Amino acid sequence: MRAATMLMGACALLAGCGQKTDAPPAAAPQEATAEQKAAVLASLPAPYNTADLANGKAKFGLCRSCHTIAPGGANMTGPNLHGVFGRKAGSVEDYEYSEAVEHAGFVWDAEHLDKWLAEPRTFLPGTKMSFAGLKDAKDRVDLIAYVKVESGYKAP
Ligand code: HEC
Repeated sequence: MRAATMLMGACALLAGCGQKTDAPPAAAPQEATAEQKAAVLASLPAPYNTADLANGKAKFGLCRSCHTIAPGGANMTGPNLHGVFGRKAGSVEDYEYSEAVEHAGFVWDAEHLDKWLAEPRTFLPGTKMSFAGLKDAKDRVDLIAYVKVESGYKAP
C-alpha cells in the first residue's frame, strides 16, 4: 500500500516535469495549424484558392526524395523549401546550387514555379535538379498551392 502511494507521488512529479519539457522553446520554428493552412489557401489568387490540396500533397510525393518543406528541415539532394515563396532563387544558406539557379536573378513566385516545374531543365538550363517535369497544368496548380500552404507562405 505504502509503496503504491509513493509510486503515484513519483508519477505526479514526473508528469509535471514532462509538461515543462514538452513545450517547444519560443524561438523554435513552428508548423502552421490546420486553420492557418486553410486561411492561406483561401487567401491565394485564383486558380490556387480552389486547388485540390490532396492532389497537391500526392504530387509533392515526387519531390520528397530530394526536398524537405517543414520549417528548419534539412537540405537533402535539393534545398529545404520552407519559405521559398518571396525568396530569391538560389539563396538557401549552406546549400550548394548550380550556377544556373544561383544566378537566376528572380524571386520565387507561383508563375516562376509553374514554369520551373513544367520543365526545369528548359527553364534554367544547367540546373542540377534532375526532375523531368510535371506536364499537367492542373497538377502544377494543386502542387504549387500545396507548397504555398506548407512552406509558410503569407500573402504580401
Ligand atoms: C532528384 C531530386 C529532386 C527532385 C525529385 C526535385 N528536386 Fe527540386 N531541386 C533539386 C536540386 C538538386 C535543386 C538545386 C538545383 C540547382 O542548384 O541547380 C532543386 C531546386 C529546387 C528549387 C529552387 C529552390 C531555391 O532555393 O531556389 C525549387 C523551388 C524546387 N527544387 C522545387 C521542387 C519541387 C516542387 C519538386 C517536385 C515536383 C522538386 N523540386 C523535385 C532536386 C530535386
